[in-house]
Amino acid sequence: MPTVRVNGVDHEFDGDPQLPLLWYLRDFLGLTGSKFGCGMGLCGACTVHQDGVAIRSCITPVSSLEGKEITTIEALSATADHPIQKAWRELDVPQCGYCQSGQMMQAASMLKETPSPTDEDIDRVMQGNICRCGAYQRIRMAIKQAAEEMA
Ligand code: FES
Ligand code: FES
Repeated sequence: MPTVRVNGVDHEFDGDPQLPLLWYLRDFLGLTGSKFGCGMGLCGACTVHQDGVAIRSCITPVSSLEGKEITTIEALSATADHPIQKAWRELDVPQCGYCQSGQMMQAASMLKETPSPTDEDIDRVMQGNICRCGAYQRIRMAIKQAAEEMA
């Protein structure tokens, strides 16, 4: 029975170990900030952090998570004041919003590795996060603003 640690809390899971993490988060834990888009690791809507690194929760089985720390958008910061979240608000990044928790989790992960990203860095790291509304320019601006705040 794997123990799944999500947002600082341990959960015992005795269901199907192949259950994708996204379903566990949404249906078992009620954490609905992470979204279902493609279910195939191709759109980024379901992005969360595993030990601080962005992963696609739709293709991550619960059985692989023993000893790992999962963080969802609900716990990216205690009061929604992570520089990424602040920049997203200040620049009105979301349109429909569906992709945006995944975009923010991917961006927050990138800024740990690459604190001052170039346009090319952003394009390379964010290319797997699809926005049907085409908010890519504002996403890029917000990542740069957050990077400046964190510098
Ligand atoms: S829903 Fe996971 S990558 Fe699309
Ligand atoms: S804001 Fe609508 S899909 Fe990205």
